[in-house]
Amino acid sequence: AVPAPDLAQHSEPVTLPTDRRKGCPFDPPAELTQYRDEQPLRRLRFPDGHIGWLATGHSVCRAIMADARFSSRKELMHDPHMDIGDMEMPPAAPGEFLHMDEPQHGRYRKLLAGKFTVRRMRLLTERVEQVTADHLDAMEKAGTAVDLVSAFAKPIPAIMICELLGVPYQDRNSFQEQAATIFNSDNLDDKMAAYTAIQAYLTQLVAAKRTEPTDDILSDLTESDLTDEELIGVGFLVLAAGLDTTANMLGLGTFALLSNPDQLAALRSDPSLAGQAVEELLRYLTIADPMLRVALEDIEIDGRLIKAGEVIVVSLQAANRDPAKYPEPDRLDLHRKAIGHLAFGHGAHQCLGQQLARVEMSVAFPALLTRFPTLRLAVPPEEVPLRANPGIYGVQSLPVTWDKE
Ligand code: HEM
Repeated sequence: AVPAPDLAQHSEPVTLPTDRRKGCPFDPPAELTQYRDEQPLRRLRFPDGHIGWLATGHSVCRAIMADARFSSRKELMHDPHMDIGDMEMPPAAPGEFLHMDEPQHGRYRKLLAGKFTVRRMRLLTERVEQVTADHLDAMEKAGTAVDLVSAFAKPIPAIMICELLGVPYQDRNSFQEQAATIFNSDNLDDKMAAYTAIQAYLTQLVAAKRTEPTDDILSDLTESDLTDEELIGVGFLVLAAGLDTTANMLGLGTFALLSNPDQLAALRSDPSLAGQAVEELLRYLTIADPMLRVALEDIEIDGRLIKAGEVIVVSLQAANRDPAKYPEPDRLDLHRKAIGHLAFGHGAHQCLGQQLARVEMSVAFPALLTRFPTLRLAVPPEEVPLRANPGIYGVQSLPVTWDKE
């Protein structure tokens, strides 16, 4: 007989370990790993006193992300990083479908999904190759040392998302800075000011697309039933997600490869390994973390009873290092098939831009390694500055050097 689930809520609440910069720069915080190995779903104390949950095991994280009884609505959340006091979390702005449930979420998602298909993104490969080659040329011209983040990791995905969406690339600088302030600053006034500036920029851009449509996603969307406000929200979400994610994977991923010379050599000698290598780097680094969900009703899961209103922090980085799913999970092994990793999330909100990100990475990593066979860090690894941002992890800069051929 199947034993009755243990619905006891007995585990002592812990607080969320967030700092990935201690110890190995690629590993989850040690406490997080320990919590997963003790209890893949356990009680968590939030900074505002809310007692919710922390999910760290691969199977329980996947189950939560797949279950529509767990909501993504922002206004129902408690923040796992800071106490926002009496301030209320606002609901999602129009178009900000990352923070919506069905059916609102599905309406936007359907409009956009057709624009990010595998087939369409593969068609972009040539353009990604060209943009990558241009940046490698510029690096070669610059001498024998650069900051790889500003010379390579940031601009390639930025050009791609700007072209796709129809944002003039010369406008990206101010946009990128404002987006960085919104996501990384802990000053609420600065965040609000940056948000207002981006809204103003997108308002005039949407107006321009309505009067003079160009060949891009934002112009296409002006033919849907979306209002200006919704178009601005969608534009903001897609642009922000496209600017800060792949860029951090390219920067941190290169750092990880340079720190694992055997893996670096494997990819350099066999560029056809790129697709598989990208999946393993996504698993190993899991830069977008954690995800938040809230129970809309009482839900029994993994032998626990989650009560309606309780918030769950879903730790994708802990899940992707779960030894129950991946043998020797803390080893970067480009030959492993990292199938089923959760780096792009799972379920209804699974990353919309994942095919684009895959194309960018599977072109950029091998091209970089082939062009610069002697590429190496220009500083000791412990001096590479890591991002403190709790949402998207990465390196702030990556000083690299190479020998002149
Ligand atoms: C959603 C990760 C690149 C656009 C997500 C989610 C994750 C993620 C984990 C799920 C969020 C949740 O369930 O709450 C990543 C990583 C990337 C990447 C690791 C790069 C390696 C991109 C790019 C775009 C993009 C290039 C631009 C098109 C989005 C959007 C969503 C999303 C619009 C929301 C989808 C929805 O709510 O239905 N991403 N992402 N992402 N991503 Fe990405």
